[in-house]
Amino acid sequence: MQRILTITLNPTIDCTTGVPELIPRRKLRCEAATFHPGGGGVNVSRVIKELGGETTAMVAVAGHSGQFFRGLILDAGIDAVFLEARGMTRQSFAVHEGVSGHQFRLLFPGPAQDAAFGDRALAMLGDLLAADAYPYVVASGSLLPGLSEDFYRGVADLAKRHGSRLILDTSGPALEAALGHGAYLLKPDFLEAQALAAALGLRDDDPEPLARLILDKGGAEIVIITLGPDGALLATKDEFVRIRPPKVEMVSRVGAGDSFIGALSFALAADWPLEKACAYGVAAAAAAVTTEASELAYKADIDRLYAGIELVSRAPQNHSAAK
Ligand SMILES: Nc1ncnc2c1ncn2[C@@H]1O[C@H](COP(=O)(O)OP(=O)(O)OP(=O)(O)O)[C@@H](O)[C@H]1O
Ligand SMILES: [Mg+2]
Repeated sequence: MQRILTITLNPTIDCTTGVPELIPRRKLRCEAATFHPGGGGVNVSRVIKELGGETTAMVAVAGHSGQFFRGLILDAGIDAVFLEARGMTRQSFAVHEGVSGHQFRLLFPGPAQDAAFGDRALAMLGDLLAADAYPYVVASGSLLPGLSEDFYRGVADLAKRHGSRLILDTSGPALEAALGHGAYLLKPDFLEAQALAAALGLRDDDPEPLARLILDKGGAEIVIITLGPDGALLATKDEFVRIRPPKVEMVSRVGAGDSFIGALSFALAADWPLEKACAYGVAAAAAAVTTEASELAYKADIDRLYAGIELVSRAPQNHSAAK
């Protein structure tokens, strides 16, 4: 098993609670809160650990809440290296409203950083990659305010220089800036892929031309577009595969994408074939939607759902040649 390095610049203390009804102006007495260490890469590390894999999380923490966050990581038993940032590590709230059954997710931007922070983060990453071999690096989640949108481009360049494969789960300008910089795998969801394609001049409601365009732009060797309840499209220059999860009862979508990346990277680091690794990701994401709020996927559920995955494979259409 090979150790996977995850990167989280904007972690969050995930606070989950419930309230009978959200009513304006009243004091709302909530249920006792539960706390988890969250943020894209941290969640990915939690899932890798749940599956028995080896992972180190590089996490930026800030201020007093950053100390609390370190304690949560310690409690979760995740090996981590910390980078000090300015301000305070953020919290996020997931509030379940009893009367409607709805879940409200309240997210904050995270503390603003000065220009030097990005360079410090890249220097730390360079040191980590120089000190140990990490065949896979996972960068996931939002960037801190003030950080250049080019940041993941720097991560992609460093990963390439050290012979690590970069799995990147981000969106918007940060995703666009990373195109053409040698990322191994990109995992936008459908809306993120549509937005990226629109920025590149293509509007389409079908995930296949979107994936084809991202591959053509040198986005990555592998593009996986996740499609919510419809699973995922795995696209490489050689094959397009649709992977559908079995039907599950949806409890909370929190962490579906991160559970996907966690199981996918676990399986790739264990040298599974790509299609099976992607199917394992689909199973983990389906398992994650059956758990409450910031709870992620459990191994027993992932393995059970993996058995019910459907794969439909075919050669890719050449989008430009079809015109
Ligand atoms: N209702 C569902 N039933 C089964 N699986 C689901 C369901 N919703 C989502 N998934 C799984 O979760 C994966 C990721 O979901 P989605 O496409 O919404 O990604 P995402 O928007 O990146 O998620 P996140 O909000 O966690 O970042 C899907 O590929 C699918 O495998
Ligand atoms: Mg996502």
